[in-house]
Amino acid sequence: MKKIGVFTSGGDSPGMNAAIRAVVRTAIYLGMTPYGIYRGYQGMIEGDIEEMNAHSVSNILQIGGTILRSARSEAFRTPEGRKKAYEMLKKHGIDGLVGIGGDGTFTGARVFMKEYPDIRFVGLPGTIDNDLVGTDYTIGYDTAINTAMEAIDKIKDTANSFDRLFFVEVMGRDAGFIALRVGIATGAEAVLIPESKTDIDELVHRLRQNSLRRKNSALVIVAEGDDAGGAFEIAQQVKERGFEQYEIRVSVLGHIQRGGSPTCMDRMLASRLGMEAVKALRDGVSGVLVGKKCKDIVYTPFEKAIKDKQKLNPLLLDIVDILS
Ligand code: F6P
Repeated sequence: MKKIGVFTSGGDSPGMNAAIRAVVRTAIYLGMTPYGIYRGYQGMIEGDIEEMNAHSVSNILQIGGTILRSARSEAFRTPEGRKKAYEMLKKHGIDGLVGIGGDGTFTGARVFMKEYPDIRFVGLPGTIDNDLVGTDYTIGYDTAINTAMEAIDKIKDTANSFDRLFFVEVMGRDAGFIALRVGIATGAEAVLIPESKTDIDELVHRLRQNSLRRKNSALVIVAEGDDAGGAFEIAQQVKERGFEQYEIRVSVLGHIQRGGSPTCMDRMLASRLGMEAVKALRDGVSGVLVGKKCKDIVYTPFEKAIKDKQKLNPLLLDIVDILS
């Protein structure tokens, strides 16, 4: 390995910059030349590639977003697009890649690797959704749940002053990891997630019980991908059942959850995994997601990382029910 490229792709997440920094500096330490590829696969196709040095990643560890920017590339889904990307990499002499992203990133990587096996390719888990197998936590998840928790704490202050029921929608198109953690951490009365079926009648019953217990307010956390709809739709369905114990309000946290300075935990995870990704390339490893489980670094083939979904611990839903 002489030259390696690093890129970020798909939804950005806090800690991606820390991972880029770790990849670049480890590569230099191991005698390789690092290249930054801008705008993910799209920039790879367009040749938006630049040599990096230790200074290029100075002072980015604590910054959210990604200095390499991100994109979702339609062109990379086509054989012609991937061919162009390969040619651009070859033009720069790049023979190894570190892609930081989620399952879309690894789907692209798997196809690309089959067509162009001479380029080694490893992935790092960068998404706030925490929905990847092969790692306990993804880079950005810890920051996102802390951002959401702080916002919801503030919402609770005003909810309490007015005897209101708040439906707060958090991110998670296909997964309820953010909703569940944040729901427990903020003492929500209910958490609605794509992994479990939502029963509106049961929810209404629970909220009525809540008001009988003379609670000043109520909080329901909704993952955006819940089967019963987003927070606005669910609030509407609750209203339609004649619920009037509390005045209802809805708040959608949205992309605020994707930004911000990464927490210590995300900086640590990104630094460790970034370093391990480059070592893996050096050791001839390819076609895997580099993750961390307990204290161990784990390689998971892209195939598995795409197909299998991280399983949510059902016991955590019990915590919501029992403690609220
Ligand atoms: O990064 C993952 C995620 O936050 C999902 O939870 C969400 O549905 C999606 O990205 C939204 O991304 P965008 O607005 O970039 O399409």
